[in-house]
Amino acid sequence: MTIDDLTRLDSTRIFVNGAWVAPSGGEALPVEDPSTGRIIGRIGRGGLADVDAAVEAAAAALEGEWGRLTATERGRILMRMSALVTARAEDLAMIETLDVGKPLNQSRRDSVALARYLEFYAGAADKLTGTTIPYQEGFTAYTLREPHGVCGIIIPWNYPMQILGRAVAAALAAGNAVVLKPAEDASLSSLVFASIAAEAGLPAGALNVVTGLGAEVGAALAGHRGVQHLSFTGSVATGMRIQEAAARNVVPVTLELGGKSPHIVFDDADLDLAMPVLVGACMQNAGQTCSAASRVLVQRGVYEEVRRRMAEIYRGLVVGPACDSHDLGPIVSRRQRQSVQGFIDLGRRELTLAAEGTLHPEAPPEGHYVLPTLFSEVPPDHALAREEIFGPVQVLMAFEDEAEALRLANGTDYGLVAGVWTRDGARQLRMARKLHSGQVFINNYGAGGGVELPFGGVGRSGHGREKGFEALYGFTRVKTVTVHHG
Ligand code: NAI
Ligand code: MG
Repeated sequence: MTIDDLTRLDSTRIFVNGAWVAPSGGEALPVEDPSTGRIIGRIGRGGLADVDAAVEAAAAALEGEWGRLTATERGRILMRMSALVTARAEDLAMIETLDVGKPLNQSRRDSVALARYLEFYAGAADKLTGTTIPYQEGFTAYTLREPHGVCGIIIPWNYPMQILGRAVAAALAAGNAVVLKPAEDASLSSLVFASIAAEAGLPAGALNVVTGLGAEVGAALAGHRGVQHLSFTGSVATGMRIQEAAARNVVPVTLELGGKSPHIVFDDADLDLAMPVLVGACMQNAGQTCSAASRVLVQRGVYEEVRRRMAEIYRGLVVGPACDSHDLGPIVSRRQRQSVQGFIDLGRRELTLAAEGTLHPEAPPEGHYVLPTLFSEVPPDHALAREEIFGPVQVLMAFEDEAEALRLANGTDYGLVAGVWTRDGARQLRMARKLHSGQVFINNYGAGGGVELPFGGVGRSGHGREKGFEALYGFTRVKTVTVHHG
């Protein structure tokens, strides 16, 4: 079966105003399977004219059929999209596995999450309300929650379905129109999503998908005068560019920029429960996860035991082709693989290697594989303890007491997610308050994704909140109306 059979699309086309059109420049970009290094398809290389057309179509949709729908009707369309995603969940998972190199059992979870985001925001659409405000005698004051208008959504390649789900479903539920720019390394699932939206009856122009390069389509969308809100997930460097572009047009922006998330283990932790989570919270998607728990901070009394048990798990981890659902698949691209391998090589020169995993003998040599690698006794100022690696690499550090745990945990520029393992209830509450982080998980990590749980960063991890009901506030603006009736 080819990738075109799976997508049932001509993936060199882009989706603008409800129609599949060739990008204005007529060029295409290759689609690579990172498990084999083979080119398995092509996507369109959109340009300025395509972004203009998509923004214009989105603006027209707000003035037309889409803008006239009630919140309940918008919710019903999203619910139909959810059902269609569920019906095509297996195709979508396979597409993602071939395009991104994500083990199939993990891609399946992404299809389920996409359907769930659509379902959650479908139900939320008609529950988003303004307030009435007690005010002076003779006045009635209230607020209206209105959509921003045209939302530019730029997503990365690591969880395309989950990230487009959380952003696009919330934006549409709130009544915005969307121009979506997927990552050049992983655009196919966004195109299939557009076809599902059309099949579900989403009016033309409410969702447009323009594929292409970040420096071309991404930059054009971020700087476009017709866009009223930007939402971006990706690197800090690109996030800064997006915020600069947003500043020039004075539009709000939501940034989710990854992190260097700490996983903290106290002496009194239930280690049997914690051990698989300590490793899994970073190895998922081969460490290419914004919320990866890449730093493991362990109290001195259990440090040796945690190091030994983590090393044992690492030695059992197998890396191999994504279709075979090994523990880890490849890294998404040659460039990203080089970057991750560079960190591993640096660690091997300067740090203590605690353990590594193994490469499956049948992994094709042209695939972008790296071995999961654990370093111990890592000094907190080392590059591997401070920089986002975005690969299957964890650093272990010991701490003496709660104060030192907090100092280490809060000691990077990031703050997206933190995990804490302790049976001490008072300490759980203290840590939750004092960690500089958008999310804190106690005696778990990630809680299985949590469509319902607001998510976002502090510091260089970004700002604004996605997921949960909270995201709907970010995709709307408040208008205050005051009526003097005497
Ligand atoms: P990136 O931030 O450059 O790419 C993310 C998205 O932004 C893609 O759709 C890309 O086409 C677009 N983009 C790139 N340049 C742009 C520009 N000038 N204007 C507008 N859009 C632009 O990330 P990249 O290069 O793929 O990965 C590099 C590093 O970024 C990773 O090693 C990782 O540390 C971090 N990253 C973080 C993610 C997260 O979930 N927070 C996701 C992906 C990458
Ligand atoms: Mg690819």
